[in-house]
Amino acid sequence: MNMLSDAAAEKALVKKMNEVNYKMVGKDVSVYYGEKRALFDVNLGVRNNTVTALIGPSGCGKSTFLRCLNRMNDTIQGAKVTGLLTLDSKDIYDPDIDVVELRARVGMVFQKPNPFPKSIYENVAYGPRIHGLARSKAELDQIVEASLQKAGLWSEVKDRLQESGTGLSGGQQQRLCIARAVAVSPEVILMDEPCSALDPIATARVEELIHELRANYSIVIVTHSMQQAARVSQRTAMFHLGNLVEEDDTDKMFTNPSDQRTQDYIMGRFG
Ligand SMILES: Nc1ncnc2c1ncn2[C@@H]1O[C@H](COP(=O)(O)OP(=O)(O)O)[C@@H](O)[C@H]1O
Ligand SMILES: [Mg+2]
Repeated sequence: MNMLSDAAAEKALVKKMNEVNYKMVGKDVSVYYGEKRALFDVNLGVRNNTVTALIGPSGCGKSTFLRCLNRMNDTIQGAKVTGLLTLDSKDIYDPDIDVVELRARVGMVFQKPNPFPKSIYENVAYGPRIHGLARSKAELDQIVEASLQKAGLWSEVKDRLQESGTGLSGGQQQRLCIARAVAVSPEVILMDEPCSALDPIATARVEELIHELRANYSIVIVTHSMQQAARVSQRTAMFHLGNLVEEDDTDKMFTNPSDQRTQDYIMGRFG
């Protein structure tokens, strides 16, 4: 790219960033694992009340980008993040950011359901308790119930809140993990292939839930299933070899993508 088009592209990007109601923005985000570079100057925004799907072949950097959004890469030895990442226009890598608080605002649900080996109640109550969100037992009970309601699990577990979370089915465990994320009133929920360990019925239930959660949260979901991306998201970002190939309305991405690599990927030609 020559200087002129570089500057023009930058100007267009800044214009777009200012126009769209972004909850989070990544600008020129690169990630290195030791010597290996895993992301190359990614520019991607996360919109309010929108599900954004990250797609692309295995190893293209989807999880790496997702982890930048709540600084989970900080926990990986040798990982280095450069560029700018903001939440409500504030730099989340600023030294005065409290990472524990950031991760409450930007919650995460992992590939494999990972409830604590504690009761269903405790799994949900833990976060609100450490963040001091309840002033009494009654208030905490209220948060636990509301969170399980939002995760679509309440009716299935209300009579056995003291039983272990690990005794639930896989799909129920994943919804418990969603309840746990929701319990601390996050603003953004990151999901890294949340259905890959679930059967089709449990997957459908979680997808339905994602649809409902969008009313109140910004959601970013990594998925290797293009059908899933098409079903649950309004925006889709395609990654390839650590680069963001393109990002667009999901409908457009799956019917008329701008980039040949996206076309090849959704046609199943690679990955
Ligand atoms: N903890 C890590 N240490 C070293 N390399 C990693 C680590 N995590 C991911 N990578 C590498 O970074 C690249 C992107 O990985 P990842 O973000 O997991 O891709 P995806 O989620 O799209 O499958 C891959 O080449 C992968 O091997
Ligand atoms: Mg991944």
